[in-house]
Amino acid sequence: MFRRLYDATWGRAFAWGYDRFQSAQLDAGMRERRREVLSQARGRTIEIGSGTGLNLEHYGPEVTELVLTEPDPHMLGRLRGAVERSGRRAEVVQASVERLPLEDASFDTAAVVYVLCTVPDPAAALREIARVLRPGGRLLFIEHVRSPDPGLARWQDRLHGPWLLFGNGCHCNRDTLAAIDASPLEIEEVERDDIPKVPAIVRPMLAGSATAR
Ligand SMILES: C[S@@+](CC[C@H](N)C(=O)[O-])C[C@H]1O[C@@H](n2cnc3c(N)ncnc32)[C@H](O)[C@@H]1O
Repeated sequence: MFRRLYDATWGRAFAWGYDRFQSAQLDAGMRERRREVLSQARGRTIEIGSGTGLNLEHYGPEVTELVLTEPDPHMLGRLRGAVERSGRRAEVVQASVERLPLEDASFDTAAVVYVLCTVPDPAAALREIARVLRPGGRLLFIEHVRSPDPGLARWQDRLHGPWLLFGNGCHCNRDTLAAIDASPLEIEEVERDDIPKVPAIVRPMLAGSATAR
């Protein structure tokens, strides 16, 4: 009952306000960061949790086929609109990462931006991403993560509950690097940085790539 009410009210508002919420950080450097990471996509590409479609503009001509997945119906409507406005060919699939209705080893690239913070089970998500990537295929990622600074990490733990509600299921204290490291993917490169213009608990960021074996 609470879950349904929450989805119908805050879930809808979150999707409606998402691009506005992102705009300050995009203008302060994150648009460039997204481009830097996502322009590495090649061949048949899948994006997980595409949200409102903020990453569409960053996929270059090397992407031969683009599949955008998103489970949330409020986000999905906005994503479809963004694809239409972009004029770009992309298939939009309503799906959760835990069960992608897609064949094994059928993608050259997968991408996630601020998604492993929100999925219920990051280990299961990474297994499924590894399943759909061909051997040697790459996962490109930008994620906000648990701080390596113990003081800030403590605040991330303290404020985890309220942020979970505000952030529509986003966990501000996840050690996503450890999750990728423990997954079937092999970390290729990773850079730590701070996301500008956001509250401190969601500032620590990882950007990089991992390959499927
Ligand atoms: C913070 S938003 C990020 C949106 C977008 N990727 C971006 O670049 O800004 C998190 C997204 O993950 C999606 N998501 C949540 N749970 C998911 C799941 N189990 N599988 C796939 N996507 C999920 C949400 O619906 C939402 O669109």
